[in-house]
Amino acid sequence: KDLNRISITACGTAYYAGLVGKYWFERLARINVEVDVASEYRYREPPLDAGELAIVVSQSGETADTLASLRYAAEGGQHTLAVVNVPTSTIAREAEAVAPTLAGMEIGVASTKAFTCQLAVLLSLAITAGRERGTLGEAEERRLVEALVSVPGLISEALRAEPSIEALGQEIAKAKDVLYLGRGTSYPLALEGALKLKEISYIHAEGYAAGELKHGPIALIDETMPVIVIAPHDAVFEKTVSNMQEVAARGGRILLITDEAGAKAADMETMGTIVMPACDPVVAPLLYSIPIQLLAYHTAGFMGKDVDQPRNLA
Ligand code: F6R
Repeated sequence: KDLNRISITACGTAYYAGLVGKYWFERLARINVEVDVASEYRYREPPLDAGELAIVVSQSGETADTLASLRYAAEGGQHTLAVVNVPTSTIAREAEAVAPTLAGMEIGVASTKAFTCQLAVLLSLAITAGRERGTLGEAEERRLVEALVSVPGLISEALRAEPSIEALGQEIAKAKDVLYLGRGTSYPLALEGALKLKEISYIHAEGYAAGELKHGPIALIDETMPVIVIAPHDAVFEKTVSNMQEVAARGGRILLITDEAGAKAADMETMGTIVMPACDPVVAPLLYSIPIQLLAYHTAGFMGKDVDQPRNLA
């Protein structure tokens, strides 16, 4: 309730969950949030305000850099909260408070259900913080909680898109490079989509904030590089459409992940459109993580890769 600032520290996919969390804490609870990659944070030795909150996010609860970040924050007199999946882990034991993700055991190396559960926990925390700080009213809280509760049903519906995602995976499998674009909370999802694809299919992929396209990556656009655009029909949708037009004008091939309203409003030729059920924009990151995970899964499967044990990863 009385915090001025939160830091969120994590690695890899958990870091991307933290980036989504930043949008939620800032929007819903009006708290400043800094998100850091743990391997940078721990060695950078940032000055710390005692009494503020450090959140670490980790599936395993054993990632060395994340653990070191937790210890650094605790030594600096900060409160520590672990969003963690393994309740017996070192991070869970050492943190002052634990918000368990309850995803069940992650068997595949690439984080999937742990990511969606990290998002669910971070959103719950942001809603609670918003209520405590008076930035969210009771009705708003109810609307957000109902949206969160609707997510499992929406995900079941989203899974109906799997056959079309599988077919698109065959197309993506032919590419050497793939670009993912998104705005708002879809930006960290673009980063996560690119990470999932590269780690299990070994196709080079980059995630970018859609508004950054014109500041460099637009030079890469040609007909050989699929551009995957994550764009629920939300407040920044029109802005993302203008980026898609920039891609289309340069002969780029777009794979659009949106909802029905978005597919209609975009009105653009694509190599494919994956249509998600309509949802409250706040919970879109939970829902839209499903098609990006499935796309990576089917691309890698089509290429004959072992999606559970990618090479070089432990
Ligand atoms: C990617 C992946 C990794 C982990 C990262 C952090 O799919 O699984 O990027 O997210 O190594 O691991 P944890 O969450 O165990 O701290």
